[in-house]
Amino acid sequence: MEAYKINTHTYDVVVVGAGGAGLRATMGMAAKGLSTACITKVFPTRSHTVAAQGGMSAALANMGPDDWRWHFFDTVKGSDWLGDQDAIEYMCREAIPAVIELEHYGVPFSRTDDGRIYQRPFGGMTTKYGDGPPAQRTCAAADRTGHAILHTLYQQSLKYDARFYIEYFALDLIMDSDGVCRGVLAWDLSDGSLHLFKAQTVVLATGGYGRTYFSCTSAHTCTGDGGGMVLRAGLPLQDMEFVQFHPTGVYGAGCLITEGVRGEGGYLTNSSGERFMERYAPSVKDLAPRDMVSRCMTMEIREGRGVGADKDHIHLHLEHLGADTIREKLPGIEETARIFAGVDVTRQPIPVLPTVHYNMGGIPTNFHGEVVTKRGNDPDSIVPGLMSIGEAACVSVHGANRLGSNSLLDLVVFGRAAANRAAEIIKPGANQKELASDALDKALSNFDRLRHAKGETSTADIRMSMQRTMQRDAAVFRTGTTLKEGAQKMDEVYASFADVKVADRSLVWNTDLVETLELQNLLGQAVATIHSAENRTESRGAHAREDFPTRNDDEWMKHTLVHVSDQGKVAFDYRPVHMTTSGDVAVVPPKERKY
Ligand code: FUM
Repeated sequence: MEAYKINTHTYDVVVVGAGGAGLRATMGMAAKGLSTACITKVFPTRSHTVAAQGGMSAALANMGPDDWRWHFFDTVKGSDWLGDQDAIEYMCREAIPAVIELEHYGVPFSRTDDGRIYQRPFGGMTTKYGDGPPAQRTCAAADRTGHAILHTLYQQSLKYDARFYIEYFALDLIMDSDGVCRGVLAWDLSDGSLHLFKAQTVVLATGGYGRTYFSCTSAHTCTGDGGGMVLRAGLPLQDMEFVQFHPTGVYGAGCLITEGVRGEGGYLTNSSGERFMERYAPSVKDLAPRDMVSRCMTMEIREGRGVGADKDHIHLHLEHLGADTIREKLPGIEETARIFAGVDVTRQPIPVLPTVHYNMGGIPTNFHGEVVTKRGNDPDSIVPGLMSIGEAACVSVHGANRLGSNSLLDLVVFGRAAANRAAEIIKPGANQKELASDALDKALSNFDRLRHAKGETSTADIRMSMQRTMQRDAAVFRTGTTLKEGAQKMDEVYASFADVKVADRSLVWNTDLVETLELQNLLGQAVATIHSAENRTESRGAHAREDFPTRNDDEWMKHTLVHVSDQGKVAFDYRPVHMTTSGDVAVVPPKERKY
């Protein structure tokens, strides 16, 4: 192996990722006097948070009665009782100060006539513990809320003494023999140098792994780099079988059409022009949660009521809203529909299809952002020196199905929580132990092996096989036989990575190698997802098994922990769901999930 020169940096904390969660954590940690670095593979304002459209939930009650406890109830029910209720309580309560804080930072929220933050309805958000009408709870900046939040957070971050390492690719966690995370190794894409970031705590805010699928709303950069590093560090991921399909991706292109369209009064129709959601969810109709709407659309298509020449998609209407409302509240959608579907939304419906959008599963954490694992009889054992937040993490506030607009909320609330926790547990400037002489060996040899990979199969071919397999066999509806076939196929695809070919051996802007490292991260999570889906023999939230159509709380009200060895071998364990709250809101006991 080549002897790589390593540049060493020492910080109290290193945040990996500069999306909403990473930036909120970075600025919070720097503000609390911790020496803080943020390393990110893309320029911060290009992080995928920029693509979030519809909004961020918080029970502000600006548009009608609301209560954070109703938000808590909706989120527990939305999670199909797989969410940890202590964490959900924390998130829903903290939502209110989190939005006000963003407003004070300068997020340009849309406004009501009397100057308050504008809030729209979103799927699964109700009032009166599900007995009242839909809640108007989602705080919006037109349909570019993520853009507004990300830019504001980056501007705010620059006020603090945090150091940004931009276009650095995080390669691997540096764990010591006691299982403590001591830092991260990263590659500066612009000049090819390698950097060891030693830290008392590493925070993984690396986003989801949507690109395991062929059609998704996620950016090409959403390759689950944190999850990949966690698996290679021998730690498990949690609840990976739960993948969210957003009901309204543009047919063919997969781009997101915000749920805010239905929040503003848009609706779905089948080939007879029927508003079919009225049949499936009579009370909330098109504002049912995403897992339900995606399943209903899929059933309509399967039963021959899809639209278009191949009867393989559904229509989303907003023509009736009128051009003025569309231009004020949904300007980005008008543009997206014109560019990617060729339709004028003031006159024509948008052709849509459920498209992979979000990973409920990820790196298991508590609601302070600390990574946890199961050790002996302790299911909540903290991994020292390691935190995770945002879509990379599984706190678990979304359980088996995330409600729309709870993601921007999760980013900001847990980014802030991680900063608060770090300030409690880290002594600024404390001495960090010397690393063992072989501490970087595994990370460096993986990097060097892939850089010099001389196989026969291109990265693009392996990626395509993975994406096709996941799209076909880990879909909206799943069944034992196809999951088994899919899991076998994914094992073969994983094994084929041993034969990967990297043509570019250089270290400067080597996109061939970047894509190969990203593919390695994706492959571990694709294997974890499809095997976990095969293993969970029930239906819950976004995991709809045709051969096990009902939820089975006796056996399966538990979190899946999945390990994937370097050889791609999968092993399972479980953690209990937290059914506790502080007492300020009552635990919601499991019951049938109907809307
Ligand atoms: O539909 C949307 O605007 C997406 C929001 C979300 O995923 O939270």
